[in-house]
Amino acid sequence: MRISGAKNAALPIMAAALLTDQPCRLENVPRLADVDNSIAILTELGASVDRGAENTLTITAAGSIGSSVPYERARVMRASILFMGPLLARNGEAILAKPGGDDIGMRRVDQHVAGMVQMGASVDEDEGNFICRAEHLTGADILLDMPTVTGTENLMMAATLADGQTTISNAAREPHIADLAHALNTMGARISGAGSDRIEVEGVARLGAGNHRVCPDYLEAGTYAIAVAATGGEVMLVDFPAVDLRSLVTKLRMAGVLVEVEAEGVRVRREGPIRPVDLITWTHPGFATDLQPQYTALMTQAAGTSVIQEFLFENRFNYVSELNALGANIELFPHRRGIRVHGPSALRGNAVTIPDIRAGAALMIGAMCAGGGTTLSGVEHLDRGYEDMAGKLSQLGAQVREGAVRAVDSPGEAIAGAE
Ligand code: EPU
Repeated sequence: MRISGAKNAALPIMAAALLTDQPCRLENVPRLADVDNSIAILTELGASVDRGAENTLTITAAGSIGSSVPYERARVMRASILFMGPLLARNGEAILAKPGGDDIGMRRVDQHVAGMVQMGASVDEDEGNFICRAEHLTGADILLDMPTVTGTENLMMAATLADGQTTISNAAREPHIADLAHALNTMGARISGAGSDRIEVEGVARLGAGNHRVCPDYLEAGTYAIAVAATGGEVMLVDFPAVDLRSLVTKLRMAGVLVEVEAEGVRVRREGPIRPVDLITWTHPGFATDLQPQYTALMTQAAGTSVIQEFLFENRFNYVSELNALGANIELFPHRRGIRVHGPSALRGNAVTIPDIRAGAALMIGAMCAGGGTTLSGVEHLDRGYEDMAGKLSQLGAQVREGAVRAVDSPGEAIAGAE
């Protein structure tokens, strides 16, 4: 099974296309609701977006581009904040709704704002919007309070066209940051250090045409690796970014899962009973918060108790009640930043509601482990983050029916041997 392009790389790179009036050709852009929403924002701002064959997208932002991101589109997708940097750099003005998206925690954007102000912008707020203005942006020496992912991306994009040099210290190191920097450098930006905690950007007067292949999605890859481990099967995952998934691979091996790099991809196979293995989420290269719910679903199948702690988002255990409704035995610590998972649980089908993308992936894994059919509602969350999940799960041997809701019949052994 082939891993798709990364949502969290594609979204900033699409916004970055506003930094030039020349065409930006992007390959390996996943077909997702969030990508469609970004296409709609770009189009409504005045850019032309052509979808080519095989997940190719060409974005051309020639001529006049609006400064105001449509409120209704921004409200439903937190990644809409990524238009702040490109619009400020291009138009000297960006008006955008305070972003919505998954309710997994407070999700502040003060670091985006502080960095833009350091580069010379003014940022005012009314009830629902940020109103940002800058006659011109000047390079700055920015130290982030925490390594925010979209904050690092926003500031990096704004800095490409600023006067002079910008340094971003305590920068986020997720793989999509380096991918965005590669894309910007194909457009003529001068960025070094992306992927480390110190990024340097030498501002240039203008950017030109771009040409970039979006990196594989380490979160999708991790999700399917965990799904196969949980259901006891085997799969060959092509385009599996093993280097970006070191922390997951380590945990899977400790839990008794074979993860082997071969010529055509990475083979994942459950070797025997799953062992309980504790974890804490951290910023990259630590264990990704976006894989924590799926990993919990795996631990429901482990023989013993595991402790899972969440460092980044205070509401990221919002799926626990639903996994328990499938028969899991998970206790939430009173401070809500950790859980104790007692396994192994014989999960059974039920009707559950998906609260966000990654919680949805965890519930899908739980549903595949369960005896009997499970009905999942809120599947629109999955469409935001997983390209053709129903099709890919069918490739793995699960039975997934689509409709207003999707029912998953336990594939049990059926997942075994699927490639
Ligand atoms: N934070 C602040 N101030 C800021 C920015 C962040 O206090 O200005 C805090 C947040 O409240 C949070 C922490 O810092 O506690 C980390 O937030 P970050 O800004 O890094 O998250 P993000 O950029 O909003 C991206 C991904 C998320 C992923 C997180 C963490 C995109 C589009 N989104 O969000 O992905 O969970 O990084 O890795 O890249 C998903 O794909 O399902 C998803 C939610």
